[in-house]
Amino acid sequence: VFNIDQLLRTRRSIRDYSDTVPDDSKVKEIVASALHYPSPSGSHTVRFVRIKSPSITEKLKKEMEQKRDDLMEAASSLEKPKRIKNYIKAYWRYTEFMFGSPVLMAVSQKFPDSTFSGTLSKAGLLKENYDEIRNFNIGLGASLMAFQLKTHCEGLGSCILTAPLSFIGKDRLMDILGFEPNCFLTMGYPQSDEELQERHYDIKKYYREI
Ligand SMILES: Cc1cc2nc3c(=O)[nH]c(=O)nc-3n(C[C@H](O)[C@H](O)[C@H](O)COP(=O)(O)O)c2cc1C
Repeated sequence: VFNIDQLLRTRRSIRDYSDTVPDDSKVKEIVASALHYPSPSGSHTVRFVRIKSPSITEKLKKEMEQKRDDLMEAASSLEKPKRIKNYIKAYWRYTEFMFGSPVLMAVSQKFPDSTFSGTLSKAGLLKENYDEIRNFNIGLGASLMAFQLKTHCEGLGSCILTAPLSFIGKDRLMDILGFEPNCFLTMGYPQSDEELQERHYDIKKYYREI
């Protein structure tokens, strides 16, 4: 059992999982906890979709591999291709492990029909182009953190992924999933007991008073 500080300080993004697939009930329990997050006007926009179908996973993988190959080829014709190619390779590594993850989810948002800022904006009362998507994304982040902390509490590990979205277009995601995810989430039992590197963040850099 962790206290909150231990929990926050020992959470890590986990990308290497054992083959053991967590029970469905455990997965649902974690999602249920991740629903307890602050959201704009209590809108609760976040939706978790577990991808269980091997054919959907395979389609996503094929599509992303194709885009990776296309990007590598396009990069080859650049004047200095090396740096960009290494970049693509690195982000492919940050993508590829999702296909071997014991649990794979896509996380999306279902926006409400009307919002406070949207209504004001449509009525012409808000002149600035108010970015209401931002509000929902703040809620999404809060939910993902709840998901990660609950996962960690249960002795499991997880990783948020947006790199895969660079390897597939929105249209293809709609075709394959039927919705457009904001990110993917992997989850499983951590494979290696790597020694935990303590991290130090200098409060002076991140906090000030005015
Ligand atoms: C919005 C977002 C997108 C991320 N995308 C990826 C990703 O595509 N692939 C990946 O391996 N990690 C991804 N991460 C995890 C970060 O790399 C990780 O949080 C960061 O390196 C800090 O490590 P820690 O989570 O272990 O503290 C993402 C994290 C966030 C918040």
